[in-house]
Amino acid sequence: MSRTHTSDVLVVGGGIIGLVTAWRAAQRGFTTAVVDPEPGGGAAQVAAGMLAAVTELHYGEQTLLGLNLASARRYPDFAAELTDLTGLDLGYRRCGTLAVALDADDRAHLRELHILQRQSGLESEWLSGRECRRLEPMLAPGVRGGLRVDGDHQIDPRRLTGALLAACERAGVVFHRGWAERLTVLRERAAGVVTRDGEALGAGQVVLAGGSLSGRLAGVPGDVLPPVRPVKGQVLRLTVPERFAPFLSRTVRAVVRGSQVYLVPRENGELVVGATSEELGWDTTVTAGGVYELLRDAHELVPGITELPLTETRAGLRPGSPDNAPLLGPTGLDGLLLATGHYRNGVLLTPVTGDALAHALTTGELPEEARPFTPKRFISTAPMALVEQPA
Ligand code: GLY
Repeated sequence: MSRTHTSDVLVVGGGIIGLVTAWRAAQRGFTTAVVDPEPGGGAAQVAAGMLAAVTELHYGEQTLLGLNLASARRYPDFAAELTDLTGLDLGYRRCGTLAVALDADDRAHLRELHILQRQSGLESEWLSGRECRRLEPMLAPGVRGGLRVDGDHQIDPRRLTGALLAACERAGVVFHRGWAERLTVLRERAAGVVTRDGEALGAGQVVLAGGSLSGRLAGVPGDVLPPVRPVKGQVLRLTVPERFAPFLSRTVRAVVRGSQVYLVPRENGELVVGATSEELGWDTTVTAGGVYELLRDAHELVPGITELPLTETRAGLRPGSPDNAPLLGPTGLDGLLLATGHYRNGVLLTPVTGDALAHALTTGELPEEARPFTPKRFISTAPMALVEQPA
């Protein structure tokens, strides 16, 4: 080991979840460090940034809905605080979302979703196909109906990441650019990590926030190792030329042949089209099939999309958990906390995760709204042989 650094809090992983945790920890007065080879990278560089608590509601996920809504409610103040602090615009847009149906099956699915939304006390309005097209004239003539959800907004995750990096720097967070290779455990307590370069980073508390890689840190006892897995999402970015604007005025989404497709229009003319959902391990290849399916489905919703320049194709890895909900707070190993497993909701859950982890680091307990998401709800049976480093 070459050198030793110590801090009160060491966050393993510098994606948006790690950054918000580090920022909030530093604001509470903890000396805080982040270890990551490329802070600000990760899934948020790919994500579309929908804040879709209502349109992404699923049966069986009502507990997660509570956390999603708690985070959505915090977004206005959270975004304003970050912008005031850094002077950076986050692309936070309260534009609403329209979820549409293209055929009778889609319409039945949306009707079911609408019932669930209403049972859950959420605001969502059923519209005819004609009413949908009146709102969004670029929609295909075949759209059969839809749900207007004015409360589901969007943010630009790349800008959010940039602002969180700047906020961390201002708050005095130290960045160690390297791979965390092994958790250090001393007297049955997490005490830091050793990096691939042999650097020893000591800490009073360690937060594992490594996204889909969180289950691969060596040295973490098997029974507290987070059961997260990578779920690949391919995402396209197009550009709406000035002469076509406004192409879409809100997020438009649908389930086409069983696959989710969404189109997220930014104020700067970017149009994000996502996303595939593939269980292929650590693969982040952009495939012809993935791009084809996204464009085919998006084209069925909004035929004019084929006129737009395609400016970027990229794939990222969502950190999936067994119940699609995050793992937050203290684990069975003293000094080790988790902030991972956010799956489809990492951007949405960023504000509430930062607050929950700051509370847990300060008090040892999760705040009320985050208690159902304790990692202790899973007893991991992962054999230690699976605990290895990413290639
Ligand atoms: N929340 C959107 C996605 O995961 O694709």
